[in-house]
Amino acid sequence: MDTLFQPYRLNGTLTLANRFMMAPLTRCMAGPGLVPTEQMAAYYARRADIGLIISEATIIRPDGQGYPNTPGLYSPEQVEGWKQVTAAVHAKGGKIFAQLWHVGRLSHPFFHQAEVLAPSAVAHDGTVPRMRELVYQVPRALTIAEIAQLVEDYAQAAANAIEAGFDGVEIHGANGYLIDQFLHHSSNLRDDAYGATPENMSRFALEVVDAISARIGGDRVGLRLSPGAYVHLAGDARDRAVFDYLLTELNGRTLAYVHLGIFDDSLTFDYLDGRASDYLRAHYDGHLVGVGNYSAQSAAEAIKADRFDLIAIGRPLIANPDYLTRVKQAEPLVPYADTMLAELI
Ligand SMILES: Cc1cc2nc3c(=O)[nH]c(=O)nc-3n(C[C@H](O)[C@H](O)[C@H](O)COP(=O)(O)O)c2cc1C
Repeated sequence: MDTLFQPYRLNGTLTLANRFMMAPLTRCMAGPGLVPTEQMAAYYARRADIGLIISEATIIRPDGQGYPNTPGLYSPEQVEGWKQVTAAVHAKGGKIFAQLWHVGRLSHPFFHQAEVLAPSAVAHDGTVPRMRELVYQVPRALTIAEIAQLVEDYAQAAANAIEAGFDGVEIHGANGYLIDQFLHHSSNLRDDAYGATPENMSRFALEVVDAISARIGGDRVGLRLSPGAYVHLAGDARDRAVFDYLLTELNGRTLAYVHLGIFDDSLTFDYLDGRASDYLRAHYDGHLVGVGNYSAQSAAEAIKADRFDLIAIGRPLIANPDYLTRVKQAEPLVPYADTMLAELI
């Protein structure tokens, strides 16, 4: 367990106080204009002893929104709002990355009165969570020019994050949102430079990585990936080759880390020959962040077995703002319950 509490050097720019990360957790508590609030600043500051906080997913532009009251990083007011969050975390000696998000086909015109855009015109079957009357629509397939604009908008949001005082950004390439929609065959039916082959299907993700890295430096960029489709889209045995290619390409680039996107890391995927974390470990050479139903104990065992390097903790950190102290002192944790999402404690 001691290892978890030792500092961890990510690169020449970033050394974390310990190997714990706060997993990104959408809380739907932003204020008018999707501006972060004082309450959010206090919520993150209470967890500043965690080695690296990843913010709740934060939309890069209005049509990236898929849930109510999720914060943004595209308006001057949002940047100002985030400044109070990053200042509060830094004042307590912590570090915080912004998770950059566009939900693609999981958006709804209700949020922005505009079209829903995605790699292909394939709807996700279902309704918007927390807004059950809103049925997901058939998106319009992005044009090549619109894809280029999206890449630029990701890069601008990353620059805005640095201006807002974040230590870096995590690109949300997981969980069936826009970037992930390009990476899986069930949501990407394109036959142009962004579809059909592993190289083409990886292109958008790599362009976003490269554009952001060029703007803020790869040392400050993390990437979250879900090679195993488990939410918001269906898996396909052909997806394996896409991730094989993507990870080979990422091995040739500078990134702070790759972070698995999953809720339960005991899940196995036929086309990955087992757990998604083990697949990432076998194919990605850089720092790997594990996640998904881990306790500090089971995380310590996984790190000792060299299955990953850092551990992200989600739900236990919602229930226990003082998670790290409790773990260190071997005190019991408050169990997480969904009802806790109603309040930022
Ligand atoms: C309420 C809630 C909100 C979440 N929001 C996000 C999010 O904004 N971005 C993301 O990548 N994952 C999100 N996740 C997934 C978590 O980051 C994490 O992968 C998951 O909770 C598994 O970790 P845990 O077992 O330690 O909770 C969310 C999970 C929960 C429970």
